[in-house]
Amino acid sequence: MSKEPRTSALIDAEINNESKNPEFEQVLSARLSRRGMLRGAVGATGLGMMGVPGLTHAANPGATHVAAMPGYLSTLGFGAVAKSLADRISIAEGYEYQIIYALGDPLDAQTPAFKNDGTDTDFHRRAGDHHDGMEWFGLSAAGRPSNTYTSRGLLAINHEATTDEKLTSFFIHANGGTATLPRPVAEVDKELAIHGISVVEVEAQHGKWSYKKASKFNRRVTVNTEVELHGPLRGSSLATTKYSKDGKVTRGTVNNCGTGKTPWGTFVSGEENWNGYFFRDAQDDQRRGKDSKEVAGLNRYGRKAGVASRHGWESASSDDKYVRWNNGALGASASDDYRNEMNTYGYVVEMDAYNPSLHLRKRSALGRFAHESVSFAKTTPGQPVVAYMGDDARNEYIYKYVSDAKWDPRDARASDKLAIGDKYLNKGKLYAARFLENGAGEWLELSLSNPVIGNSKAFEFKTDADIVVYTRIAADTVGATKMDRPEWGGVNPKNGEVYITLTNNSTRTPDNTDAANPRSYLDLRAGKSQTGNVNGHIIRMGEGKPTDNEFKWDVYVFAGEANSGDSNINLSNLTDANDMSSPDGLVFSPTTGICWIQTDDGAYTDETNCMMLAAIPGRVGDGVKKTVNNLREDGSSKDVSTLVGKEPTEATLKRFFVGPRDCEITGWAETPDGKAMFINIQHPGEGTKMADIGNPSKFTSQWPTNAGYGVGNRPRSATIVITKKDGGVIGS
Ligand code: FEO
Ligand code: CA
Ligand code: CA
Ligand code: CA
Repeated sequence: MSKEPRTSALIDAEINNESKNPEFEQVLSARLSRRGMLRGAVGATGLGMMGVPGLTHAANPGATHVAAMPGYLSTLGFGAVAKSLADRISIAEGYEYQIIYALGDPLDAQTPAFKNDGTDTDFHRRAGDHHDGMEWFGLSAAGRPSNTYTSRGLLAINHEATTDEKLTSFFIHANGGTATLPRPVAEVDKELAIHGISVVEVEAQHGKWSYKKASKFNRRVTVNTEVELHGPLRGSSLATTKYSKDGKVTRGTVNNCGTGKTPWGTFVSGEENWNGYFFRDAQDDQRRGKDSKEVAGLNRYGRKAGVASRHGWESASSDDKYVRWNNGALGASASDDYRNEMNTYGYVVEMDAYNPSLHLRKRSALGRFAHESVSFAKTTPGQPVVAYMGDDARNEYIYKYVSDAKWDPRDARASDKLAIGDKYLNKGKLYAARFLENGAGEWLELSLSNPVIGNSKAFEFKTDADIVVYTRIAADTVGATKMDRPEWGGVNPKNGEVYITLTNNSTRTPDNTDAANPRSYLDLRAGKSQTGNVNGHIIRMGEGKPTDNEFKWDVYVFAGEANSGDSNINLSNLTDANDMSSPDGLVFSPTTGICWIQTDDGAYTDETNCMMLAAIPGRVGDGVKKTVNNLREDGSSKDVSTLVGKEPTEATLKRFFVGPRDCEITGWAETPDGKAMFINIQHPGEGTKMADIGNPSKFTSQWPTNAGYGVGNRPRSATIVITKKDGGVIGS
């Protein structure tokens, strides 16, 4: 097992793409009319045509429906929040927050209140751990789906992961968890249940938000819940297991990171670092054939023979629900073991948040990689549905999916939402991005009809299932550009441009920089000593239309420390009001057009906890060409020229919020009037050492109890809701 500290930031980047693929080197800018703004917001956001805010149901005098769209904001009406190392939330003046839903909170009337001392059980009926991506699904006062009502709704929330029992305190276990194998069944059962997804009903009464413990909509999906396989993987021999000999189902979803909302109103969730949960013994390569395609695929996806799994679940007992995490070829055939179990992970999973009785569907057509979010382009009737996605591991790729089916706006109103998902997400083409040095880019088709893939000898692709299971290898084959860990994406509702955060990359060296990943440095200041693209950047792409095979791009902003004293680090001239490190979450508000940027950082945490910033960005090409001098250790440099967006100012990019200690800020959802914003505080206190489990004064965080929520000293991931004290639109 890895000996390096396994904070979530490191776990997010476990895999390193060592493939030898070749390295290759308009949009509406005018202010839109009010009518244009309304049109622009629809579809781009997944609100679809179901009920355009401001156009429907304005009659309710209770003012809990959206009366009118505020329109896209052109200025940020709040003062920047200072960086902070305090174990509390700092938020812009004029705003307040409430904590509404934390790890362990019961989801029905029968489950006991959370004691928060490591003795709680029944996590399949409680909030899971590490709250991550999140989407809003509105309800009317009467409890029916509504896109306009603003004080009652469902939050669908990913529970990405949990603490690592080998290095840090595992707060759901009384003694901090067992770090040796076999892992105790009682511990593993809790861990299986705290992963997955929640659906939880929330409501505002007299300005106070809370979650509803006994709502019939409340749902937990865990790694034990049966899930359907769809798209090219469905029925393929690559999905044959002892549990599903016909390869049509699997159990669970795991390490759910970013999210998205489809134009037909379903929740989509990306499975990210799923590979780490599996184990295959040191002899497994020999059994499968050292040079076999299977072994090549397992290695490319970071599951090397003999390497320990993240939590050792496979060791708990011989019961099937633990053994399935051993993906070695141990039986007579694939129908007798779980050699293919890992092939049933790594997908975008679709859920109808309004209907807890329906199975989730894994949409294999969107490819298999370390998925973050899924950002849908604005839909156009008669045109394909298009989505953009990142693969978050070092030197992985940015992808686009284009459906075969053409968009029919009536589908936004269909009640059988997963059937609509079948129509658009089961058949389509995947593309990987290649960024050229001159600011142009190409989408490279990943299909058997692309001769580079169809004729590939190094790895033979024979079926569509091969493409979706071995997506990374297909992208290697066509020569996509290796990026600095693509995390969330967002589509700017004003102009359709696509933003992707590139959070950081410790393996970017001066010599493998390129125009799209142009920065590598050695920060030798006291206490730093970090190399590569330490602080990350945000890239953006503009297409004529979402189905185009070409795009233009630039770097919207380079994250960095304002006071680093090195112009090659602070390339976007950030100041104390807006400097940041490791951008990860990125979502455009469909209502205000604000680009919200969230950090998951381990580099600037000596000076500030993770944070959320608000931005009003311009467009691709609004800046200048810059040359980055990447200093090698011998003092020479590799100079890379790249296009950098217009420098943000303190008026167009500023810090809105700083979280408590040792947390990541992630997940973003908003009521359709833009007046209540939900975000997640993930793993506060995760750096607490195992030895300190019995000594709360040594916990690195005691949030949210120290903010008045719940009992016990142990820190908990939680959802908060932010409102403006004067009841106004957030950001205005
Ligand atoms: Fe789960 Fe890449 O963040
Ligand atoms: Ca995380
Ligand atoms: Ca992330
Ligand atoms: Ca991250």
